Amino acid sequence: MDIAAESTQSLFVSRLRLNEFRNYSTLSLELEPRPAVLTGPNGAGKTNLIEAISLLAPGRGLRNVPFADLAMANGSGGWAVAGRLQIGADVYNIGTGLSRPVAGEKRAGRQVKIDGVSERSTTVLAELLTVVWLTPAIDGVFMGPSSDRRRFFDRLITGLEPGFRKSLTQFERAMRQRNKLLEIGGSAAQFEALEAAMAEPAIAIAAARVHAIEDLQTAIWAKWRDNEVNTAFPWATLAVEGSIERDLQLMAATDAEDAYRDRLRQGREQDRAARRTLDGPHRTDFLTGHGPKQMPAKLSSTGEQKALLTGMILAHAELVTTRRGGRPPLILLDEVAAHLDEHRRGALFEEICRLGVQAFLTGTDAEIFAPFGAHAQFLHVEEGRVSHSDRP
Ligand SMILES: Nc1ncnc2c1ncn2[C@@H]1O[C@H](COP(=O)(O)OP(=O)(O)OP(=O)(O)O)[C@@H](O)[C@H]1O
Ligand SMILES: [Mg+2]
Repeated sequence: MDIAAESTQSLFVSRLRLNEFRNYSTLSLELEPRPAVLTGPNGAGKTNLIEAISLLAPGRGLRNVPFADLAMANGSGGWAVAGRLQIGADVYNIGTGLSRPVAGEKRAGRQVKIDGVSERSTTVLAELLTVVWLTPAIDGVFMGPSSDRRRFFDRLITGLEPGFRKSLTQFERAMRQRNKLLEIGGSAAQFEALEAAMAEPAIAIAAARVHAIEDLQTAIWAKWRDNEVNTAFPWATLAVEGSIERDLQLMAATDAEDAYRDRLRQGREQDRAARRTLDGPHRTDFLTGHGPKQMPAKLSSTGEQKALLTGMILAHAELVTTRRGGRPPLILLDEVAAHLDEHRRGALFEEICRLGVQAFLTGTDAEIFAPFGAHAQFLHVEEGRVSHSDRP
């Protein structure tokens, strides 16, 4: 599949089917290639619906919970999400889910099928589509632990470098094995082998982060220069901070790899005492600043942080689209519109339409989405059922 050759393509979900997923017993929903507004009362199933869409990408989805939690309470214990994805003239049927538990059997992980063919790993989904989201839980990303920031930025990076996901998985697997070895003991040769298996993906992860953050920064600045929307969303300054990322600025990748392996070797005793690996890409942090105010994002106001995140997602969408041959990401915005003032809300809607992304926006109040007019499709959600509705 040569995505670079296709110049103007759009990407959207044209049908979504759910089975025993959260509060949806079954759902079959046809969608148009336009932004979708989901409104309805609290507890209706709006966030659940976009969580289902988030599972069309690798990872644990928008709430980052164990897969078993997604199964409908009092159901069989399994769940399924099927999305029909249109990319230009091509159609891909993505099916994913968890089979029902069988007594006495070890439970398999999340299954993925593309056009009926089982895939060994969910990472293939990252090659097909990019899904990014903003939720109320992400609002605290600048203040919370670095693990939250890594999860947020690593998802953005996956959209720019689809192979990134695979490196993350490889690194985590090797590190888990080394951590186990720290616990139970092992020979020098065993440590050497695992540390080599960690170092290779670690360098790939760090390099991808450095490049992606540079590119995202450039895209943010370009947008700020060229686009009105930036009066609504301040430009962000971005930096990545980690031991390997730092080394990569100073030395060749092969030297950075050797240096990391040396540090792992020398750190075995310390790591054993700490019962985990203390150095590596799993400790990297991402630093964000409020550009116009020259202020670290964690010191910015709640509204400013939200605006920074929104601006970042929009710049990222533009970058993904150009990088991936006109293939835009899907953007899931849970309760974002309600927290923006009218000016920013208008700018957000306009930008979504201009980018040609199929964004999914949730809210309890349909009125605030009225400015979308005919540019969006309006869906009403109530007690795990979804109906197409007229304009708000
Ligand atoms: N595994 C599950 N099985 C059945 N129901 C569930 C499951 N998980 C969550 N729910 C229920 O699904 C309902 C809808 O949740 P959801 O978060 O989608 O609501 P919402 O429409 O986004 O509401 P709000 O406007 O308050 O954000 C809730 O009542 C919740 O308790
Ligand atoms: Mg919700």
